[in-house]
Amino acid sequence: MKLWKGRFSKEATSSSDEFNASIPFDQRMYEEDIKGSIAHAGMLAKQGILTEEEGALIIKTLGEILEDIKAGKIEFSIEGEDIHMSIETILTERIGQTGKKLHTARSRNDQVAVDFRLWLRKETAEIDSKLDELMKTLQELAETHQETVMPGYTHLQRAQPVTLAYHLLAYYQMFSRDKERFADGLKRINRLPLGSGALAGTTYNTDRQYLADQLGFDSILPNGMDAVADRDFAIEFLNCCSICMMHLSRFCEELILWSSVEFGFVEIDDSYSTGSSIMPQKKNPDMAELIRGKSGRVYGDLMALLTVCKGLPMAYNKDLQEDKEPVFDASDTVKNSLGIFTEMISTMTVKKDTMAKAAKYGYMNATDAADYLVGKGIPFRDCHEIIGKMVLYAIGEGKALDELTMEEFKSFSDAFAEDIYDAISIENCIKAKQSEGSTSFESVRKQLDKITSQ
Ligand code: ARG
Repeated sequence: MKLWKGRFSKEATSSSDEFNASIPFDQRMYEEDIKGSIAHAGMLAKQGILTEEEGALIIKTLGEILEDIKAGKIEFSIEGEDIHMSIETILTERIGQTGKKLHTARSRNDQVAVDFRLWLRKETAEIDSKLDELMKTLQELAETHQETVMPGYTHLQRAQPVTLAYHLLAYYQMFSRDKERFADGLKRINRLPLGSGALAGTTYNTDRQYLADQLGFDSILPNGMDAVADRDFAIEFLNCCSICMMHLSRFCEELILWSSVEFGFVEIDDSYSTGSSIMPQKKNPDMAELIRGKSGRVYGDLMALLTVCKGLPMAYNKDLQEDKEPVFDASDTVKNSLGIFTEMISTMTVKKDTMAKAAKYGYMNATDAADYLVGKGIPFRDCHEIIGKMVLYAIGEGKALDELTMEEFKSFSDAFAEDIYDAISIENCIKAKQSEGSTSFESVRKQLDKITSQ
């Protein structure tokens, strides 16, 4: 039976009922809906809008409905239309006339907004703890790999030697910004819309501050029309999800490259890889590829909601029912991706020797060789040219720079002496970095200490 049937003389068709209903997906918010209703009933009783007995009966029965849903005893149907009316219908079935009083001084418009905000508050906390786990894993891996030398790249060309710890800590920084971003979004999620009515407020002497306190909101939204029409908080959440997926996706791209025979820097554990149905030798980094792919899906969720909202006049419009599926999808995807990713990197094997070998060949100490000549009083531009010619020569000879003989060095500049070999050893190239935040062993140690002390 429809709760709004009074004004209608004709039944909706079953296809339009189905099209209109959000219960198949918004039932996920049953707990938030009941919590919101319990706070609302408590407020109505406190304000004398309901009697104490009526308030108490509603609250008690809502608690029982919550338990029954959790125990799987309740099946929702399309007739209920959405989670708000479904719960209200069950309540009324159980306690009759009193149940019908719950919706006094409230609209589904402020109800859906409060449910969605409560749901996002919970999800933000879950994502935050998943980010913590990932960051802890990165920190532990970085501790282990402070001496693991590898090529650092620009343009995906070998550029300068770095340590794996340094590379991992770059990602640590990205994920710590994600944490900040979600926490900042939470500030705007955690504001109370309830009590705004359909759009214009209510004629009852309600107490919105009481509702905010009961439900743990930091403040009350100051304008009722904004409160029921706003979905900025959900768009921001999707933005945070999208950036976080972009970070995971970049990391996955590297793991996919690194696990190829061409790189051979890591081996992803069997439990996070799959085989080919035709090529027996294959071991594919499917989890990493899926996370990379799912970043596209989460961006799509963000675009969907931005587009849903862009042409909406004030205040609530049914278009806004389209807010939930993309947000549910993005949140599930981010949580699953963070979880799988953390497991994948904590079980992968790092092939230190292959990394070290790649760091040795690739002329990544060329900048250090130029810096060596600067130390002998030659202007940097000239040094750049001298070393450029030397690299060209070494490529022709199939040698690394530190494999050239003293005689060969001297043929490019008289300034070279025996200490050049030390100056351009890969270890020393890393050690010699002096700027704050560099890849030097000492600087990475400091970066790790700073994280640990936070
Ligand atoms: N199911 C609706 C939604 O998700 C709830 C709000 C409906 N409000 C209304 N006036 N029809 O947006």
